[in-house]
This record gives sequence, structure tokens and C-alpha cells, in this order.
Amino acid sequence: MTTLAPPQFEQIAEIAMGRWGLNLTDRKMQLVSNRLAKFLRKSRFNDVQEYLEHLEAEADEEDMLVFFDILSTNVTSFFREHQHFDCLEREFYTPLAQENLILPRRRIRMWSAACSNGAEPYSMAIHAWEHLSNLDSWDFKILATDLSNSAIEEARRGVYPYKMVENLERPLLKRHFLRGRGKQAKMVRVAPHVRGLVTVGRLNLMDPWPVRGPFDVIFCRNVMIYFDKPTRQRLVARLYDLLRGGGLLAVGSAETLSGLDSQFRTVEPSFYVK
Ligand SMILES: C[S@@+](CC[C@H](N)C(=O)[O-])C[C@H]1O[C@@H](n2cnc3c(N)ncnc32)[C@H](O)[C@@H]1O
Repeated sequence: MTTLAPPQFEQIAEIAMGRWGLNLTDRKMQLVSNRLAKFLRKSRFNDVQEYLEHLEAEADEEDMLVFFDILSTNVTSFFREHQHFDCLEREFYTPLAQENLILPRRRIRMWSAACSNGAEPYSMAIHAWEHLSNLDSWDFKILATDLSNSAIEEARRGVYPYKMVENLERPLLKRHFLRGRGKQAKMVRVAPHVRGLVTVGRLNLMDPWPVRGPFDVIFCRNVMIYFDKPTRQRLVARLYDLLRGGGLLAVGSAETLSGLDSQFRTVEPSFYVK
């Protein structure tokens, strides 16, 4: 088992904050220690010190992303925090259908910022197919970004263990997933009409964002929880700028904008409108 010395943990925390905004408090020391131990067992490094020296002296961007993967948490699920999808139906799709009778518009942009393995953006895509009639005739796109290489790879593939979707309603499952056969029998793939709405890319939320708004809806959920207050403040201001007037922002249900200086109006806890 790897035991991290406090100065080593400080060094790791400094890198995590400086590059990715991750706020590793002392309470995370054991977790980081365990994850590093697991990584080191399969690596060419003899111990933490050697690995940290490598990171400081000669690591390239890919090495740093491997390190990010060790530190970050990718937990996610399909239709996680369902209340956000209910709110989206009420606050976005229902008014959209009414507005559209008067002033048709055909362009919708959504962003799953910190999309993890894709369960979130594909849930948004499935939800859209369920709530927007004639989706084919819309210019509808969902941008899905994350920094984790392993998460992005999974999101691009769009293939998941059946276990991840077994609790979804049967008709939803039937309409939007393809069941694997043979060796793949325990897997599902998001159907092409779902995959086709989502563009997956790598993005560090701390860096400049080469994305073109304005967005109608942004889901930035369960990532701010890892950031300190100044980082959350900056992030929320940048998200605000990228939303159109009336656009919606969902954060994780354990997160809030209260205490931050922001112009968002609360629709319901953890759901906001510009
Ligand atoms: C707990 S998951 C949340 C996934 C999804 N939004 C949800 O709520 O189910 C947090 C995600 O944030 C990503 N993340 C953490 N820091 C990031 C950063 N600086 N830039 C981009 N993504 C980041 C992690 O890679 C991870 O996939």
C-alpha cells in the first residue's frame, strides 16, 4: 500500500488545482493514496516519489491526462437526478412547442459540460427524442465534453453494460438502445439516432472554451463540487455568458449557486434560468 507523505500530497494538490481546478483537501489524501497505489502497481514507476518526479520533470500532456484520470471521479448514470429532466420538459420543451406555433425556430444547442462516460448527454438526447416532435426537422445538437480520456473514449463509443440501463422504462430502452448479441449480450449501444445528436470532445473547463454558443441548455452537474469557490464563481460567470437569454442551467443536486455572485434566477433548487 502506498502512503503519501504530506509534502507529496501537497505537490499533487497543487498540480490538481493549478491545471484542473480540483480542490484536493486533506480529506482526499487516503483516496488519492489508494488510487495512486493501484496505478503504480501496473506502471513502470517504483514509487510515488519517482512518479511525481517524472510528472514534474518530463511529463507531456498525455502523461498529465493519465494523472488526471487517477484523481478524477467519473461516477454518472442515465437520467441521473431525474428532476432535472422533468424540469427540462416543463421549462423548455413545453413552452418551446407553444412558441413554435407563433414563431418557429429550428436551432437548439445543448451542452453537457463534464459529460463523463456519456450517460448524461445521451440521456439528454433520448429525452429530446421523447419530447420534441419531428426532431429530424430541427437543427438540434448536443455538445458533450470532459477532460478524462477514459470517459471520453466511452462516450464516443456509446456502448454500456446492460446493468447501466436495466432500470430504464422498457419502451425507452427498446426505442433508444440496441442490445448486443453473442459475446456482447451483456452490453447495449445507444441507437444511431441518439448517437447522432451528440458530439463528444475533450475540454478542460479551466481552459479557454473553443465552443460557439449561445446554448439553450447547459448541464454542468456534479463537477463544481470538486472546485473551490473562486473557481466555481468564474465557471458560473462563463456559463452565463454562453447561454442565450432565457437559457437553462442545471448543476448537480448537491450543488448550488447560492453564495456565488451570479445573475441566474432559480427555477428550482439546482436549476437556473438566465
Ligand atoms: C462525477 S462526474 C459527473 C458526470 C455527469 N455530469 C453527471 O452528473 O452524472 C464529474 C466529471 O467531471 C470531469 N471533470 C473534472 N474536472 C474537470 C475539468 N477541469 N474539466 C473538464 N472536466 C472535468 C471528470 O472527468 C468527471 O467525468
